[in-house]
Amino acid sequence: MENIIEYNSIIIMQKSISAVFIFIALVFAPAGSAHPAANEPGINVIKFRQVQDDLSDMAFVSIDRNSSGGEINLLENWAGKVVVVTGASAGIGEGIVKYLVRSGLTVVGLARRKAKLEEIEQSLANAKGKFYFIQTDVSQEDEVEKAFKWIRNNLGNVHALVNNVKTAVVGTILEVDNDALRTTFRTNVMGLIYCTKETVKIMREKKIEGTIINMNDVMGHRIYDMPSIPLNVYPATKYAVTALTEIFQNEMENANLNIRVTSLSPGLTTTSFGIPSGVFRHDKVELPYPRLEPENIAHIVGYILSLPQTVQVSEMTVRPLRKFLDGNN
Ligand SMILES: NC(=O)c1ccc[n+]([C@@H]2O[C@H](COP(=O)([O-])OP(=O)(O)OC[C@H]3O[C@@H](n4cnc5c(N)ncnc54)[C@H](OP(=O)(O)O)[C@@H]3O)[C@@H](O)[C@H]2O)c1
Repeated sequence: MENIIEYNSIIIMQKSISAVFIFIALVFAPAGSAHPAANEPGINVIKFRQVQDDLSDMAFVSIDRNSSGGEINLLENWAGKVVVVTGASAGIGEGIVKYLVRSGLTVVGLARRKAKLEEIEQSLANAKGKFYFIQTDVSQEDEVEKAFKWIRNNLGNVHALVNNVKTAVVGTILEVDNDALRTTFRTNVMGLIYCTKETVKIMREKKIEGTIINMNDVMGHRIYDMPSIPLNVYPATKYAVTALTEIFQNEMENANLNIRVTSLSPGLTTTSFGIPSGVFRHDKVELPYPRLEPENIAHIVGYILSLPQTVQVSEMTVRPLRKFLDGNN
């Protein structure tokens, strides 16, 4: 595979703009129920787990307004820190990139479509933080290694990784070509593993207090029967994300690494879902389901990052508030 990392196209965006976001609106807003058939409303699963025995540094994050009524940017302490976001060119990944860069962070976005990454770069021209992108196919181990080599050589460290990338095709396992099934596993599972291993190498070497957020799905916890939109192995890859998150949590603890690992499981969210034209574009087709917006997920990523390092959100499930309208409730 040709080396598609384009170092020359990595551009620094560094102008200031005040873009402060309200976490309170996010955390307590109608977030909640749906990506196929959901029963529980709101943010319904938040399990905290310690990553260190010593709680002396534990501090509570204030999700509030300051004394003069202004909004608080909970990511102030993250200004200049480096976050790698995979699947950065569209949907939820694009939302996360924009939110973090506007909050002052340095973000490296990985995805394949250079034109989309350039558009995002332009939209962040006046943002407080910096945006770099590296054109990368995360299902290719050598491309991931090259991307992280660039990050190590040019930025020096990685404070957080958001494993957001995914691909999916519509059709039953019986119908869909095996190549497409393989690509789904290689991207959603092996891509996450490659990026995590490269990130942990840097975090370990630089003794970083790290955070890894694995973008999961409510379908990573329950199988929904959707004969009109069969997603074949996609839910299986998300079950793998559930398992890998817990395995990595154990591995970090057993290796005495101060790296917290989170599974973040959204319900249906307005994106193209990466599925080719017209088949299942729930940003274009009016589906009768309540949805989250990419910005909602971006704010939750910011919230998870903003928590003290002693707090590991092991699993967070988020659904739009209104109930799924297919008769399952
Ligand atoms: N949308 C939902 O309803 C929903 C619900 C629950 C969970 N999620 C999860 O949220 C995450 C984002 O979903 P989304 O709907 O925002 O996805 P999306 O709109 O389909 O975007 C997928 C992103 O992944 C990138 N990508 C795909 N294959 C890649 C590869 N081999 N190498 C590098 N980048 C690749 C795409 O960019 P390029 O094509 O440019 O490479 C794109 O930036 C996923 O983990 C998904 O499982 C989504």
